[in-house]
Amino acid sequence: MTRARITGTGNFLPEKILSNKDLESMADTTDEWIVKRTGIRERRVAEPGETTSDLAARALQVAIDNAGMNAKELDVVICCTITPDYLLPASACVVQAKLGAVNAAAFDIGAACSGFMYGLGAGTSFIESGLFKTVGIVCAELVSNRIIYENRDTGVLFGDGAGAVVLQADEGDSGVLSMRLGSDGSDQDVLIVPYGGAKWPSTKENIEEFPPFTVNMNGRELFKRAVTAFPEAAQQALDATGLSIDDIKLFVPHQANTRILESAAKRMGMPMERVYVNIDKVGNTIAASIPIALHEANAAGRIEEGDHVLFVSFGAGLTWGSSIVRW
Ligand code: UT7
Repeated sequence: MTRARITGTGNFLPEKILSNKDLESMADTTDEWIVKRTGIRERRVAEPGETTSDLAARALQVAIDNAGMNAKELDVVICCTITPDYLLPASACVVQAKLGAVNAAAFDIGAACSGFMYGLGAGTSFIESGLFKTVGIVCAELVSNRIIYENRDTGVLFGDGAGAVVLQADEGDSGVLSMRLGSDGSDQDVLIVPYGGAKWPSTKENIEEFPPFTVNMNGRELFKRAVTAFPEAAQQALDATGLSIDDIKLFVPHQANTRILESAAKRMGMPMERVYVNIDKVGNTIAASIPIALHEANAAGRIEEGDHVLFVSFGAGLTWGSSIVRW
């Protein structure tokens, strides 16, 4: 059968670092609290004037180079983001133009922390159905120019960055072996940016009620749901492939909180040495977190041909997803 194989990975992180110590002077928080409760030590912030599509284009170009191909060979660019350059056009169209991917269709996916999983699901379906042969999936978030750092509940968590993969049709045994996606919209209020859409449009009155990009988050509820959602989604991926946890070389999860990952790994019977964690250096980069981590792991030689890699995400929506790929 035709499989969707990851043939290139890439990422791009802005150089500027915002440390927990820096945040101590911006909000009522401490380095000690942030490290103990989240595992985050620092996160990256984009330069003034830099946009989401700038980060995305850099990351996708790295993935294209890593795959040893040319942007003109892409059949579609999928951009997963909740911080797009504009409400319209889609950021994927802007990325397509920046890269000169002139033969590609382009569209965005807004699945928040599960953006990469939904992008991977769409890309895999395109390839398995025969519609496209070469797919560029890029996940990028630029939160630093809109997040309210004085709000300690959410200001300490998020960071800027982009990660990407190239998927290509392959007739061998390697590629995406399983894909599970889910959603529970009845919990939409658990993590929400209320302002700027149809419900709270950009009017003077609404700006006073909700400054742009006010993130309302029930952290405790999300935490509670996440510690069971991660192992459940992982088990679905294992069941779909008939593999066991011992067959997984590397678990690359959405980087929401080190405590969530440790708890999930324990429930799954997965030693932390096989869990890729980089939240300490980049924070929660929302849709971008899995492909940023994946490229780091790939570049560091942590994944070899034939290895099984497990991805799991959980976040706003609520949405979740899991997948196992054979490298
Ligand atoms: O990407 C997917 C979506 N996001 C998540 O999955 C996030 C899931 N949730 C979490 O990671 C955690 O719930 C947080 C890191 C957000 C919060 O950690 P927590 O251990 O659940 O803390 P908490 O909300 O229970 O708050 C404990 C205390 C509170 O003070 P009191 O009421 O005990 O006096 C908070 O006001 O910590 C206080 N607090 C802070 N203190 C210093 C909350 N944020 C901060 C802060 N610095 N940044």
